[in-house]
Amino acid sequence: MATRSFGKTGLKLPEIGMGSWQTLDLSDREQPLADEIVSAALDAGTTVFDSSPMYGRSEEVLGRALERRRDGVFLATKTWSRTQAAAEARFGEQLRYFGGHIELMQIHNLVDWEERLSWLECEREAGRVGLIGATHYSSSAFGELEQVMRSGRIQSIQIPYNPYEREVEQRILPLAEELGLGVVVMRPLGGGALVRLSPPGGELAELGVQTWAQALLKWALADPRVHVLIPATSRVDRARENAAAGSGPALSEDQRRMVERISGRSGG
Ligand SMILES: NC(=O)c1ccc[n+]([C@@H]2O[C@H](COP(=O)([O-])OP(=O)(O)OC[C@H]3O[C@@H](n4cnc5c(N)ncnc54)[C@H](OP(=O)(O)O)[C@@H]3O)[C@@H](O)[C@H]2O)c1
Repeated sequence: MATRSFGKTGLKLPEIGMGSWQTLDLSDREQPLADEIVSAALDAGTTVFDSSPMYGRSEEVLGRALERRRDGVFLATKTWSRTQAAAEARFGEQLRYFGGHIELMQIHNLVDWEERLSWLECEREAGRVGLIGATHYSSSAFGELEQVMRSGRIQSIQIPYNPYEREVEQRILPLAEELGLGVVVMRPLGGGALVRLSPPGGELAELGVQTWAQALLKWALADPRVHVLIPATSRVDRARENAAAGSGPALSEDQRRMVERISGRSGG
């Protein structure tokens, strides 16, 4: 799997990671499925995993799935609590799930970011957190996200990017590049909506991919300002399929336009 420098952090990360919203919110009985999905991703070279306290049981389930293979994993999760006390209490659990260290702690949807930043900086000093980041899914919050980026206190952002959600191209990606921030892409498959379409094999061959999901992932990777995509899946075969998009040739500009044209047929 190809890797990219994660902004100015000095880290190199694989181009394809894995998200966990909905897909890893599983019961104890379903843990073996999570173990299989995560193992398949790791075997295929994916080492970045993203979660959040907002995703039900997914942090705990992901933590268990990674238990025996935690070394070398870049674990990204989030703080999402309404009060500082609740954020700290949850952090205690997160450390337990993830072996005492979290490589990237992100402020989910910028919830109470000023207070959370000061606290997370102390946690980073103490060595329990590696990098600090901020996320938002909505372009209506990008003004505020810019403010946090310009504070100089975060090292990465997580934003939506796919042929239907391109608002980040206007100000967020140029600013991230200027500041040397790591860029994690959420919703690279449009939350699943974009991948329902299945173009003919001839078009996939022209794009140099085996599946439409891979074409969409390669579309986002064709922008050098993004560093790691985190598609989520509840299927072992798709974990492998998505990881494979991090290998092979990049899309040319013409191929990228073709993906946009085909996406237009899906009606969003
Ligand atoms: N505010 C935030 O911080 C925020 C917001 C949104 C998302 N996120 C993060 O970003 C991650 C990714 O975003 P997302 O989960 O919303 O959307 P996504 O990754 O764009 O799409 C996930 C959907 O695509 C389907 N899928 C995955 N691989 C596929 C394939 N190869 N072929 C066909 N279908 C496929 C999955 O269904 P199956 O399970 O059936 O494969 C799932 O329904 C989240 O899981 C989460 O970690 C963060």
